[in-house]
Amino acid sequence: MRAAPFTPMNATPLAVPDNSPEGVYTRGAKAAREWWRVSLSERANMFRIEHGHGEDGAGQVDIDTVVDLDNLEAKLLKWRREGFVSAADHEDEARAAQVGSAFAADLQRAAQAAREAREAARSLSSAQRTVRIGNVDMPVSTDSSDANAALVPRINDAYLFTPRADDIALDIVENRRVMLIGHTGSGKTSFVEQVAARTGHGVLRVNMNGQTTVGDFVGFWTVKGGETLWVDGVLPVAMRAGYWLIIDELDFAEPSILAVLTAVLEPGGKLLLKERGNEIVTPHPSFRLFGTANAAGAMSAYRHLYQGANLLNEAFLDRWRVYLFDYLSNDEEAKVLLRTLPALTPALAHTLAAIAADCRAAFAREDLASAFSTRRLLDWAELMLRTGDAELAAAPAIYSKVSAEDAALIRSIIRHHAIFDAAPDGQPAA
Ligand SMILES: Nc1ncnc2c1ncn2[C@@H]1O[C@H](COP(=O)(O)OP(=O)(O)O)[C@@H](O)[C@H]1O
Ligand SMILES: [Mg+2]
Repeated sequence: MRAAPFTPMNATPLAVPDNSPEGVYTRGAKAAREWWRVSLSERANMFRIEHGHGEDGAGQVDIDTVVDLDNLEAKLLKWRREGFVSAADHEDEARAAQVGSAFAADLQRAAQAAREAREAARSLSSAQRTVRIGNVDMPVSTDSSDANAALVPRINDAYLFTPRADDIALDIVENRRVMLIGHTGSGKTSFVEQVAARTGHGVLRVNMNGQTTVGDFVGFWTVKGGETLWVDGVLPVAMRAGYWLIIDELDFAEPSILAVLTAVLEPGGKLLLKERGNEIVTPHPSFRLFGTANAAGAMSAYRHLYQGANLLNEAFLDRWRVYLFDYLSNDEEAKVLLRTLPALTPALAHTLAAIAADCRAAFAREDLASAFSTRRLLDWAELMLRTGDAELAAAPAIYSKVSAEDAALIRSIIRHHAIFDAAPDGQPAA
């Protein structure tokens, strides 16, 4: 069979589906504007390309040639790399910018409305005393029992609420489950304790890295004086009395404990005590549940630093608001040092904060096996003020707690700062 001769009339259109290459590709503006124009050639399956400067398609054409599809595709790629954009792309961009700004504006309006609704709801119950944490007014506990008072943590006046505190404080007010993740000593547990201290809520803590069993957590039967008694575990105790429960190192919890927890994580979630004839424990309105973890979620990359940590699955994590706690910044940590130990000078405090930051960086690089917590830093600084000797103070506060290799590296970091941070005007070196 003889193929029909190609003419522009019977040339089948090229298979360039939605994305026709025809059109003008431009870069630059005004006098610097440069363009390529692509159109179908009169020759079948070929494209005409023209090049010029100035207004699209107008003005002097300095290149005018015909290429096949392969050649054209190579040119399209090259133009894209050189910053040429098609009119269709320009339109898409403009539309995206418009949609984007409309979305952002809508969101701002919606968030404002939500804020007003929240404030209105709160002023209805304004009979309740509140205390300000960061920028949030948090209700103070109405439980005046001795049992609660005995469990309220002591206020640490040196505790610094960083900007991250606001969102978490609101979550607590709204009775959300809050999980704090971050390296050891980054202030996860003390955050919850210090909020509880200021709002007068009793706190119970349980650590999953150890021998915590489902029995400890949920409760167990025991025999006392010939009688069989049920002893509530820490979870039902907190739920009934309305205490705040901190579950530390959740990523070490055994699966049976996570299974029990999951039910309680739902808003208003009840606990079913199967062992006690299916008794249902309804949470007291003041009950709050917090988890802390070193290596869950966004911290999973550090699991090798926390031997034995389990990966918490996404379905479990989705039942929490999860906040990533970083160590305090150098300035924040220096501030905490000065608040805790007013005898320190700002220059000393900044140098100590810089030493801690260097040790943490070494820990993250796995050059150090031991983490450097704010607690350790505070303890070392306190001892330093007593001995007047940083090295001497470092022995019981740091060196004796870590391996010989770690001690050697920390010692070299300390010496480096002790020598190079001492600026003549007494200000910390940059
Ligand atoms: N924002 C902060 N302000 C003051 N001290 C802090 C702060 N964050 C941490 N610390 C200190 O660090 C110590 C260790 O914090 P902690 O809450 O136990 O850490 P984590 O639970 O993350 O291991 C606390 O006892 C406290 O002295
Ligand atoms: Mg902790």
